[in-house]
Amino acid sequence: MGFRPSTMDKVLEITVMFNHIYRGKRVLLTGHTGFKGSWLAMWLQRLGAEVCGIGLLMPEQYSHWQLLQLKMRSEIADIKNLDRILQIFQDFQPDVVFHLAAQPLVRLSYKEPVETFHTNVIGSTNVLEACRKTPSVRAIVAISSDKCYENREWAWGYREDEPLGGYDPYSASKGCAELVISSYRRSFFNNIDYGKKHQTLLASGRAGNVIGGGDWAPDRLVPDIMKAAAANNEVEIHSPKATRPWQHVLEPLSGYLALGQRLLQEEIQFAESWNFGPSDDGIITVKNAATELAKHWDAIRIQLKQPTEILHEANLLRLDCSKARYELCWHGVWTSAETFKYTAQWYKNFYLEQKLNTMADLDAYITTAQEKELPWTQ
Ligand SMILES: NC(=O)c1ccc[n+]([C@@H]2O[C@H](COP(=O)([O-])OP(=O)(O)OC[C@H]3O[C@@H](n4cnc5c(N)ncnc54)[C@H](O)[C@@H]3O)[C@@H](O)[C@H]2O)c1
Repeated sequence: MGFRPSTMDKVLEITVMFNHIYRGKRVLLTGHTGFKGSWLAMWLQRLGAEVCGIGLLMPEQYSHWQLLQLKMRSEIADIKNLDRILQIFQDFQPDVVFHLAAQPLVRLSYKEPVETFHTNVIGSTNVLEACRKTPSVRAIVAISSDKCYENREWAWGYREDEPLGGYDPYSASKGCAELVISSYRRSFFNNIDYGKKHQTLLASGRAGNVIGGGDWAPDRLVPDIMKAAAANNEVEIHSPKATRPWQHVLEPLSGYLALGQRLLQEEIQFAESWNFGPSDDGIITVKNAATELAKHWDAIRIQLKQPTEILHEANLLRLDCSKARYELCWHGVWTSAETFKYTAQWYKNFYLEQKLNTMADLDAYITTAQEKELPWTQ
């Protein structure tokens, strides 16, 4: 199948955004072959950055990154291999690093706990170590998850200074990775020594469930629903009453980019941890999320099921994003209705019309952000 990109008529001047900080910068992005990484690679390229990705080839039928056909350097390499990662860093000499590579699936982490800890904890340590040994690196944004917090199943949102934890291996690995990030920040990239003993600022970004086109990972609600709709099948929904924060993939990405901007501008106070979650209208049950998606593609047919295999997963998980809103001026752009609409339409266009809406979705997202006069658009 040949996929056609879909773009808006008006060409948006994007390179000036985020204070044109990314124009001409060398950006190393781990996890570029994945769902979030492929969107970020495209956005960075539109911002005028020179991008080098480190990731593995994805096993699923489609790869969003391959479909996008971006003109960027791609290194298929394992972050568990420090020597190889170091070699790529020293060859590319990045200015800024976005670290997204991970084993990100809770259910797979029960089947493969050692691999999950190895990739997410030791792999992240290797990436930070490569940054430490590559003096060109001025800014690092390391991506973890809302699941890094010790979950108390309460209604309040977690704040950045709450205890880390994690019941399942994936969540615990993200809690551990946060401890590694904190240790590297205190031991090697300490804000007090910035400009004297080192030149690098390190922050972490914690986001919740994200949705949007181009995700084909197994055991995730949206890809499961869309694959079933494309095959004209009914989809079984497990844990329909579980509450999740739903936001479009572009929302946390705008937060990561805003954070990277502040670090590159040498604003030391931003070298900390930051939550990027949806507002309250984006926190709804799995059943309601599936119903919202079905409004935009009538091939989506849902059957509610009780889980056959009971694995512990967090039921209630909210982030308190006050810090990002007030200090970083980061705000969500799309309403939850828009998020579900753009997501369902992306897959509908992909499967029914062989059309890739990624670029058009980014343009639509930026246009709404401009209307809302968000600082990063200026
Ligand atoms: N998708 C979500 O809802 C969500 C929510 C919270 C946090 N996150 C975090 O965001 C990041 C990206 O998640 P995603 O949804 O895009 O996942 P994904 O599975 O689509 O992509 C993961 C990426 O990591 C790479 N990777 C995995 N193991 C690797 C290894 N050993 N060496 C090199 N590369 C490796 C993959 O090749 C891929 O490029 C992860 O850190 C994840 O924990 C995702």
